[in-house]
Amino acid sequence: MWVHYTDMVTALLQLPVAVAAWWTGCGPQDPAARPSRTSVVAFMLLLGGAALRLVAGVLLLAWGWEFAGPRLVFVVPALVVAATVYLVWLRPARKPPGEAPVRDRGRPARVAAVAGAVGVVFVTAVALLAGAGTAVVAGLAVLGVPALGWVYRRLRHDQADARAGRWRGAARAAVGVALVAAVAVGLSVASVLPARSSMTGGALGAVDTGGGSAAGHQHHGGISVTDLTGTDPTGTANGGDGPVRRFTLTAQETTLLLDSGMPVTAWTFNGDTPGPQLVVRQGELVEVTLVNRLPGVGVTVHWHGVDVPNAMDGVAGVTQDAVAPGASFVYRFRALRAGTYWYHSHEMSSVQVRRGLFGALVVMPGDAPSHDDTLDETALRHTWGGEDGVATLGLASGVQRRPVPAGRQVRLRLVNTDGDPATFTLTGAPVRVAAIDGADVHEPGVLPGVRILVGGGSRYDLVFTMPDGPVTLRADGPGIVYSPHGDAGPDRGTAVPAVLDPARYGSPAGTPFGTGSRFDRRFTLRLDERLGFYDGRPSVRYTLNDATFPDVPMLMVSEGDLVEVTYVNRTGQHHPMHLHGHHMLVLSRDGRATSGSPWWADTLDVGPGETYRVAFRADNPGVWMDHCHNLEHAASGMILHLGYAGVTSPFLIGSGTVNHPE
Ligand code: C2O
Ligand code: CU
Repeated sequence: MWVHYTDMVTALLQLPVAVAAWWTGCGPQDPAARPSRTSVVAFMLLLGGAALRLVAGVLLLAWGWEFAGPRLVFVVPALVVAATVYLVWLRPARKPPGEAPVRDRGRPARVAAVAGAVGVVFVTAVALLAGAGTAVVAGLAVLGVPALGWVYRRLRHDQADARAGRWRGAARAAVGVALVAAVAVGLSVASVLPARSSMTGGALGAVDTGGGSAAGHQHHGGISVTDLTGTDPTGTANGGDGPVRRFTLTAQETTLLLDSGMPVTAWTFNGDTPGPQLVVRQGELVEVTLVNRLPGVGVTVHWHGVDVPNAMDGVAGVTQDAVAPGASFVYRFRALRAGTYWYHSHEMSSVQVRRGLFGALVVMPGDAPSHDDTLDETALRHTWGGEDGVATLGLASGVQRRPVPAGRQVRLRLVNTDGDPATFTLTGAPVRVAAIDGADVHEPGVLPGVRILVGGGSRYDLVFTMPDGPVTLRADGPGIVYSPHGDAGPDRGTAVPAVLDPARYGSPAGTPFGTGSRFDRRFTLRLDERLGFYDGRPSVRYTLNDATFPDVPMLMVSEGDLVEVTYVNRTGQHHPMHLHGHHMLVLSRDGRATSGSPWWADTLDVGPGETYRVAFRADNPGVWMDHCHNLEHAASGMILHLGYAGVTSPFLIGSGTVNHPE
């Protein structure tokens, strides 16, 4: 990744140098003058920078064309143009000794060439940092200043050059600053998001059909997401009957103390964070009443990782309106798959999850014995006050102790509620990784200890038998020591295990589809980071195929389609991509097929420079978010939707509505 950032920093440095070269190279000077030294030096720097970026581009070829291509396509022409200009017009000429200087007739051509070459480099740098559109605007502005100066000079017939040179310089500077400011304001205004937009009301141009047919997308009178409740026409919720598990979650503001004594004004469900742990049995109907008692903000509940019917997905502005203060909403869904899940608000989620509106949802297997003395615990890792804040398990930032008798079975359900991946380490007992994102690992091997990188939003279940010594769980800061007598004792497992690779763990088993399947739709999502403006504010924009929410084309599928998605992460950051309503089978990483247990993910951490190919069956009609679960990234644009042909949403998103799902 250092290559990636070296290139970005070089591009950033090229901007001021390009402006300096342009300034000194094409400003009003004595027409007989040779190119100024500053302009030549700046030019050399630009050439050096472009050459460095060319090397970076070539090095990135090792990662694949997706990574190197855009750089080479932009940088090579810039290098060629700049080098040509230097060789033809700027190289110091060899003057025969003793001759008087002659009036330099080549100057107009030189000025034009310098401006052009610098413009190319400038645009190249901006294009990679901020995107092609911004580069065109910025390029026009930069080239506009010398053009204006030239027109001005023409009008004044150059007579006043000597006299008014200084004033003209100041005027030129003013024009330049004004233009840059105008471009910034223009880009900022252009980035303001629509006050109201619908995820399904867009033109056909805003969809990506992945090579399949678009038929059905346009036909009106389709089905609304609100009808996708999983309830059949006889009124039987989610088909069939049986026990119903009822819960109430009340969103409210609560002041809590961390174990360090630090008070936090949290937003909680039922006065606690994590909120109440909801434990249900596979097959049961879950009915949760959400009541909003928050001060002046809406709220929803999203069942992260549970493939609920679309109307129950809890995304403000897509599957429901945010629940207003004082109001309530009832969620009903059948817990069809056992596993570890979590729930959280999906209204202003980057703020509300951070502030505490989340909890664990555990679905016990239908065949689990009703009397089982396994110690079954969830450990939700959460960082208070931003990514650099205080990391906790529960509300404890320190090390907690738990007495557990030797011989007892323990199942730890690890949940990362943050956006950045967190390293969990368990030492002191042979351990197995029993499940990932709620899906069982097939034949998980016993490891002497384990170290796992749990991506944002993801879950890993660990199982072990309590030995007669302590077992230590560490979560990048906070930790828990389990010991037979409640004391810490010496930690016998101090050797740090290697990081588990879920692509190679467990053993293969049959899957309903795989690498060799015929896919009905294939999508590629390129993840980039760009400098620019998002919703009027200067920010790092996290783009999907160069677009940001809500402009990222919806991935369109038809019910029953087998869909392949390739995530290409061209940034230097982790992006835990979360697809609602479906589980994705991971096919390959960086071109290498997975070789362990089938790996089903609902939140897949795509690391810097990584490419993942995944597949899923489109078997849950609706409009589903697919977004980065680093929720700050999502709030900077990294959100798109998966839409089923014929499904529409009556809900609206934007500043003019109550819905801000990001
Ligand atoms: Cu856990 Cu769309 O979220
Ligand atoms: Cu991200």
